[in-house]
Amino acid sequence: MHVSLRQLRVFEAVARQLSYTRAAEELHLSQPAVSMQVRQLEEEAGLPLFERLGNRILLTEAGRELHEYSRSVNRLLQEMQEVLESLKGVNRGRLHLAVASTVNYFAPRLLAIYHRRYPGIGLQLDVTNRERLVRLLEDNAVDLVLMGIPPTDVQVESEAFMENPLVVIAPPDHALARERAIPLTRLAEEVFVMREPGSGTRQTMERFFSERGLTIRPGMQMTRNEAVKQAVRSGLGLSVVSLHTIELELETRRLVTLDVEGFPDRRQWHLVYRRGKRLSPAANAFREFVLTEAALIAPPVFTPAGGA
Ligand code: PGA
Repeated sequence: MHVSLRQLRVFEAVARQLSYTRAAEELHLSQPAVSMQVRQLEEEAGLPLFERLGNRILLTEAGRELHEYSRSVNRLLQEMQEVLESLKGVNRGRLHLAVASTVNYFAPRLLAIYHRRYPGIGLQLDVTNRERLVRLLEDNAVDLVLMGIPPTDVQVESEAFMENPLVVIAPPDHALARERAIPLTRLAEEVFVMREPGSGTRQTMERFFSERGLTIRPGMQMTRNEAVKQAVRSGLGLSVVSLHTIELELETRRLVTLDVEGFPDRRQWHLVYRRGKRLSPAANAFREFVLTEAALIAPPVFTPAGGA
């Protein structure tokens, strides 16, 4: 059987994304080029690897088997690259980071400083939600991840590096904006604008309320923090967000934080990587930098509740 690494890499991306279009985007290839690689692999395998269901594609049994192997091959290739990188020394090579969309409110500030210190290191930053970050860790597809709660279903090392206070936000003219020590149960009367189910913020918010026996009323669901903030500003409901995401809105009083019992919910940001991963000198330098300096460079800026 003649299978090329390129075919396996293309197949892995299509199998993971379950989309030729998204795989083509990810690999910077055209869609026909991606389809052709998959077709050649199917011919070599002598079995179909995908089946169509309406306009979706699914893996066949052979496709699922091959996906496991192609993920292992990709992991090994990544490991090989890591070993070679580690022989080059710091200020060379590449650093591939992935951060939660909420972390991206401060990650560029950290990267700018790191880049000034190590201008020889090529940087790649992926910004996505928690669910995708867990998948990237599982696939050993990144060096380091910055996120809220580390995953429990993938073997990882994690280190807390900065506080992540979660706050309840409202528009400045909201009836609760001027109240102090609002009982948590009062929130049951409000509607909440929610992030998507794969979001770490949403998971933490749901756990916070359910641990306290409180059921909240979910309103609209949005996949971006920016959309959530706009929705809250427009009076579509309250929300719980990381303080890091609303620095500008608090400064300009477009949003206020509510003084609710139990808030701010003081969480931590974590630096996470696969257990047993051989960190390159570039990744090690970033890890040291984040653990010792991130909290000084990008601390959450707290304005008293009500924005007063
Ligand atoms: P999110 O991430 O952007 O997925 O909500 C925040 C987190 O990881 O807690």
